[in-house]
Amino acid sequence: MKQLRVAIVGAGTWGAAHASIYNEHPGAMPVAICDVNRSLAERFAREHAIPEVYTDHREMLARCDCDTVAVVTPDFLHADIAVDSANAGKHLLIEKPLATTRDDVFRTVEAIERAGVQAMVDLHNRWNPPFNAIKQLVSTGRYGKAISGHCRLTDKVWVATDMLSWVAKSSILWFLGSHSLDTLNWLIDDRPRTVYAVKHEGKLKAMGIDAVDSYMTTIQYERGAIAQMENAWITPNGNSNINDFKFNLLCEEGKFDVDASSHGLLQVTDAERMITEDILVKNFVFGKCKGFAYESIRSFVDKVLGDEPFHVSLREAADVSLAILGIMRSAETGLPVEVERI
Ligand SMILES: NC(=O)c1ccc[n+]([C@@H]2O[C@H](COP(=O)([O-])OP(=O)(O)OC[C@H]3O[C@@H](n4cnc5c(N)ncnc54)[C@H](O)[C@@H]3O)[C@@H](O)[C@H]2O)c1
Repeated sequence: MKQLRVAIVGAGTWGAAHASIYNEHPGAMPVAICDVNRSLAERFAREHAIPEVYTDHREMLARCDCDTVAVVTPDFLHADIAVDSANAGKHLLIEKPLATTRDDVFRTVEAIERAGVQAMVDLHNRWNPPFNAIKQLVSTGRYGKAISGHCRLTDKVWVATDMLSWVAKSSILWFLGSHSLDTLNWLIDDRPRTVYAVKHEGKLKAMGIDAVDSYMTTIQYERGAIAQMENAWITPNGNSNINDFKFNLLCEEGKFDVDASSHGLLQVTDAERMITEDILVKNFVFGKCKGFAYESIRSFVDKVLGDEPFHVSLREAADVSLAILGIMRSAETGLPVEVERI
């Protein structure tokens, strides 16, 4: 069996998820890790049995015999690595979001399409069992067209204060809004035409973090469906799950409701609090990678090896980034914004 030789750029929390599944998948092998922090990269290489270590992705592309690059750097640092990798003829799995500026979205898509490499953005909620089940149900046609959707996806404030060091250079819209918008777009089966958003600021700024607390967005889709989306990273740390994730979809002949953050599948209680970690996301069962966060990466490897289309197209991922740029502009100006098309 052919094996994809994957070079991972970014030795952080999510880089480790990538390394685990590339090590496990019989069709993949992690051959290099690149991180600007050399000691972190070296430790990561030891922990995941990765032979080559780099601190500059351009040097890695020049020297490493890889056929695929996984871009797992902070949200705002995907574009240069993706463009350079595409220009070097490498397939790409890019962590969400595709890119965070208009110029970065356009130049990344252009480089990938010109190079003819295969590229997927890791919008992994499509592999999340309840959402995948809804997709299968609405695809039967039994429930008619989608009319409206609601999605609240927030993070505990700990993510902004402790987990990520680059919150002020990103946004909750990039970090979680990309997932919630892709889920709405996929299940409504349409593209946002107009977005209107308001934002709340102050809580994070008072803590010394220069970021918006919360966005509330109204979306009008091209064929008439409507949706609301809430994204915040100020949920109290006492929340039993890292996320607060609620979703509804109303169709002409039915409705679907998901509580993806406190579904009660597993409750762990100690002397202080109860935790309802969502073990559907990512865990190990007898040492094997389980959960939808691994399934999207596993699927990427399968599709590249099979030369088949991905479950998330590059253009759909670009739509998500362009709509988020519209949401940010709307929240700044107080006006509805027409979403740009690529
Ligand atoms: N699919 C998901 O649900 C999911 C979950 C978590 C994170 N992510 C995404 O994964 C990406 C990484 O997130 P994380 O939580 O691992 O962040 P992190 O901060 O833990 O790790 C990022 C790493 O990238 C390194 N880095 C920064 N600039 C670099 C460069 N130019 N070249 C090489 N390395 C560089 C940093 O030193 C750091 O070690 C983000 O885009 C994030 O949104 C996705």
